[in-house]
Amino acid sequence: MTAGERRWLIAGNWKMHTTYEEALELAEAIQRRCPSLPNVEVILIPPFPWIVPLVERLRGSSIALGGQTCSAYDQGAYTGEVSARMIAPFCRYVIVGHSERRRLFGETDEVVAAKLRVALRYGLRPILCVGESLEEREAGATLHVVERQLRSACESLSLAECERVVIAYEPVWAIGTGKPATPSDAQSVAEWIRRWFVLRFGDVGKELRILYGGSVTAENAPGFFKAPDIDGALVGGASLDATQFCGIVEATQSVEARSE
Ligand code: 13P
Repeated sequence: MTAGERRWLIAGNWKMHTTYEEALELAEAIQRRCPSLPNVEVILIPPFPWIVPLVERLRGSSIALGGQTCSAYDQGAYTGEVSARMIAPFCRYVIVGHSERRRLFGETDEVVAAKLRVALRYGLRPILCVGESLEEREAGATLHVVERQLRSACESLSLAECERVVIAYEPVWAIGTGKPATPSDAQSVAEWIRRWFVLRFGDVGKELRILYGGSVTAENAPGFFKAPDIDGALVGGASLDATQFCGIVEATQSVEARSE
C-alpha cells in the first residue's frame, strides 16, 4: 500500500476540558462544519462522562469516538478506573501512553503495554503515543526513547493486532507549547517508526497509520500532511475550536499526492 492509499486520521483529544453543555455544543459545531470526506476518519476523544451522550448526538454522522486512556486491568476492585471493556461499545479508538499520563500519573512502559493489550482484547484500536522530552531531545536520545516505547508496547503483537494499532509521534516539548516540531523533523521520526514496523511486521508496517501531535493548528497542518509518512494528527488545544479542528480536517485535502 502506498502512502496515498492510507486513510487520513484526524483525532481531537479534548483532555480534561469542557462541561457537559460545552461538549455537546462543540461536537455539534464540529459535525456541522467538518466536511465528511471518504478518505478522512474524524475522531473525537472527549472526557469519559461525555462519551455516551456524544454517541447519541453523533448518531448518523461519520464522526466516531475514542477514549483518552483505559485501565490496564479488565475489571474488578480498582476504584476510579475505567476499563476498555466499558468503553468498547461506544468507542472505536483509545489513546494509550499519552505523555501526560506517563509524566503526571507515573505510567511506565510496562503499564502502557498492558493498556495496549487490554484495549486490543476488547476490540478497540489503540493510538499509542510515543515521543521524547526536551531533555532527551537535547541529549540526542529521541530515537532511543521512541524505540524503547515501541518495543515495550508492540514487539510481541501478532500481525492481526498490529493492523489495528495507530502510532502518534508527540514530542513532549511540542505539546501545548505553541512550538510544533518542524514537518521535516516529524517526518524523519515517522519514517524511522515505519521502518521499525516494516522490519518486524512486513507489509503491515507499510499500512500503519502514524500521526503527528504537538501544537497542530489549521495553519501548520498542511506542512505535516505533505510528509509522506504522516497520516494525520492527534490534536489537543485546536480540537476545542470547531473552526480550527475542521480546518485541520480540510488541510488533508490540500495534499495532492504523497510520494513514499
Ligand atoms: P496540543 O495540540 O495542545 O499541543 O496537544 C497535543 C496533544 O497532546 C494531543 O494528544
